[in-house]
Parts: sequence; structure tokens; C-alpha cells
Amino acid sequence: MNFSKSELLIKCEALGITKCLSKNKSQLVELISIKEQQILTNSTVAPLTVVTPTNSTVVLEVIPRFKFIDLFCGIGGFHQASLRLQGECVFACDIDEKCRKVYEKNYGLRPESDITKIDISKIPEFDILCGGFPCQAFSNSGKKKGFEDARGNLFENIISIAIAKRPSFMFLENVKHIKKIDNGNVYKHIISRINASGYVVNEKTIFELSPHQLGVPQQRERVIFVCIRADIFDPVKKIIICPPETPIRFDNILETDTNVLQKYKIPGELESVLNAWNEMITTFEVNENLSPTILCNEFNTIYSEDEFLKLPDWKQEYITKNKPIYQKYKTQWDSWYATHAQILCKKEVYGKLEWQVGKKKEQESIFNHFIQLRQSGIRVKKAVYFPTLVAIVQTPIYAKEKRYITPRECARLQSFPDNFVLHENDHTAYKQFGNAVNVDVVHYVMMNALNVYGMFV
Ligand SMILES: C[S@@+](CC[C@H](N)C(=O)[O-])C[C@H]1O[C@@H](n2cnc3c(N)ncnc32)[C@H](O)[C@@H]1O
Repeated sequence: MNFSKSELLIKCEALGITKCLSKNKSQLVELISIKEQQILTNSTVAPLTVVTPTNSTVVLEVIPRFKFIDLFCGIGGFHQASLRLQGECVFACDIDEKCRKVYEKNYGLRPESDITKIDISKIPEFDILCGGFPCQAFSNSGKKKGFEDARGNLFENIISIAIAKRPSFMFLENVKHIKKIDNGNVYKHIISRINASGYVVNEKTIFELSPHQLGVPQQRERVIFVCIRADIFDPVKKIIICPPETPIRFDNILETDTNVLQKYKIPGELESVLNAWNEMITTFEVNENLSPTILCNEFNTIYSEDEFLKLPDWKQEYITKNKPIYQKYKTQWDSWYATHAQILCKKEVYGKLEWQVGKKKEQESIFNHFIQLRQSGIRVKKAVYFPTLVAIVQTPIYAKEKRYITPRECARLQSFPDNFVLHENDHTAYKQFGNAVNVDVVHYVMMNALNVYGMFV
């Protein structure tokens, strides 16, 4: 991220770093990074242990720094972040039984179910309210109905709890698209409802952050609303989110246990399909343009004008745009297709290549990339980041190793620790991580905000 020197100076001030006026930008970034590391170390729960004279280790209780509640808790992305900051969860809720089961297994706390049925007076006292409220009503992949959708109104339950319980802070998370729904009216509505309930939230306390900015190879932009109770809000205290430039690390994510990996190998049929496409990709000249989606099963289909016009628009467009690449490599396509037609016709998706990695390079291979089988085709994406995890299960394929990414790798992509107990059913685990908030992302925002408000001094 590119921050101006003055932004970095403000951040230094917020972190209590002095004598920095004479420093250049990279020195400031380094100082910020060191300071944040210190805060992190100070704020991470280190169970206090003592060794008794009989040589047995006794774990002393850690005194929590704050109490929090975890609304729409899922599998506890916020819980993980708060634990790192030494928070204690006193209440959680999620309507999904499978999430509640995983939550209880990991944190020893049984979440309540439907937020609309909760008796607010029974929620214990707490300092911080966390909530990644359901995003289907707001996200790009949803129907974009905004507040007309009942799930959008679940946000009002957060407001009711805030009004009744008056926590010091609220950290609310949602998809970035929330800012755009209904021309920004949903976003304005959220801000005004929070303000009306006695909390300060404005452009300076709302942040956009993605795990890739913290070194995690997943691009997943999220909006985090930091809401500060009006009586403790201090305009002088500025929360500045400028993550240090952390190199992206794949090695932290990738599974290395060959026994585990064996289970996630792609089926032989799919491997043959990918091998077939790879053969054709090798044939193309370097710099060849492989977009838009190539529909190889259409090359030799003859349509009458009437039939063609009855095809969906997208198909008409692809067939037309595929003509030059077919003509250019006609001999190769035809002999390739004669060899592989049977398998390429086996499923509709096998005959559609969505090449999203730019022009063909030297040494190009489909196996250099991530692959997702989607209705629209075999989608090939650059392996700079892992594909963004989504709740709809289309498990990405790490083509280099001809295997699906594992649930544990998904956990790591969401910055959950390796001792996190996953749901025993892989599909459920994939879905739960697709829904979760990235722990590093919310931790980074919470840590900075709470630090500015003196939580870690
Ligand atoms: C975006 S996910 C939040 C995920 C969570 N932050 C995590 O890290 O796993 C939204 C969650 O809201 C839950 N939910 C939806 N409607 C609910 C309701 N009426 N009451 C409680 N939870 C609900 C869903 O089951 C889902 O787990």
C-alpha cells in the first residue's frame, strides 16, 4: 500500500512513536511495523504457567482484558481475533447448528441460535460487540436486494443489543460491496442507525482491508466498521490502518503431508480433461490470446441461422469470437478433438475453457495455475493468490499438485490456527471457511483501534 509521509506520521503519532519527522517513508514503515509487532506480542494471550516443586506444570488463569460477544458467530473468526487480544467471550449466537457445533468444540461455549429470538436481558455484561452480519442480502453474489431482504434487517438486532447493553466498542464486518448497494443508501442507512444508537462511526472509523495486505495469499476485501460509544469517542485519537508491506507467503498455507494430500487428488477423469486442454495450450503460439471462453464442442457444430439465433446471447457471442482462433489452428484443433472428443463431451463444463491468466507465455501450462470448475467452464486463474473462498462450494484446484485445496489450507487462508478443530465433513468445513471472516484482518483492525483507546497500555 502506498501511504504518504504525512499519513505515516499520523500513524506514528497514534502509536506513540516519537522523533520521526526526520525519517523517510521506508524508515517510518519499519518503525510502525516494529511497534505493531510489540503491541501484538503484548496483546497475545500467553497462558501463564509455573512449574511446581513436583515438576508438574500449572496453567494460571489469564485475566481477560475485555469481554466480548460474538453475533452471527459462524465458526468464530472474531473469536480468534479477540482471543489473540486476550478477550473473553461471554455470549455468541448463530442460527446454523453445524457452526454452533464447531464453535462449541473449539471454544467451549455453546452459541445461542436465532438472534431474533434472543432475550437481550439475558446477555451478560460485555465491553465489545463483534458481528459479521449476514452478507447474502448485500453481497455481489446475492440478489442485491439490500434492506428489503429480511436478512438485511438482522442488522437491526445488533442495534437493539447495542442500545440495551451499551458496550464500549462494536466491530462490524461486511463485504465491500455493501457500500454500493442501492446507490450507497444501504451504507448510509447503516451509518445513520449506528450513530442514532449512540455510537460514533464515520469515514475515519470504517476500514477496508484484505488478507493479502497482511501477507496472506487471499484477496478478500472487507469493510470493518469500528463503532465507538459516543461518550468515550475522542476525535483526537485517530485509528490509522496502514498495514506494513508484508510479502505474500504461500508456504505457510500449503499442506505438505503427502498422506493427507492423497485424499484430495482430483479424479482421473478430470485430470485427463486438464491434460487434454494442456496439450492444446502447448500448441498455441506464445502471446496467443485465449479469451473469451473457448467452447471447443461448438467448433464443428453446424447451426442453421434460425437455430443460431435461438442460442443464448452469451453462447452466440463466444461462438462468433472463437472463430479466429479455431481457423488459425484448425488442423491442430481437429486432430486434438478427434483424440479427446469423447471425454470433452462427457460433461458440458469440460468443453469450456475460461482462461483468465492473460496471453500465453513461454513454458505455459494449465498446471501452473489455480483451476475452478464452474458452470461457466474450467476457470483458470493466476496463482498469485488463492482464489477467494466463498460459501458456495467450488473447491479450487491447486493444479500444480493436481489436487483440491484442503479444508486445513482454507483454515490457514482465513488465518485460523492449526489447532482449530474442523467440521468432520469436508463440504461443511469448506463452506464454513468460505463464510468466515479472516482472523488477521479483524485482529489488525481491532488491535489498532483498541490500542489507540489505551486497551494495551
Ligand atoms: C457472514 S457469516 C459470519 C461468519 C463469522 N464471522 C465467522 O467468522 O465464521 C453470517 C452468519 O450469520 C448466521 N445467521 C444468519 N441468520 C441468523 C440469525 N437469524 N441468527 C443468528 N445467526 C444468523 C449464519 O448462519 C452465518 O454463520
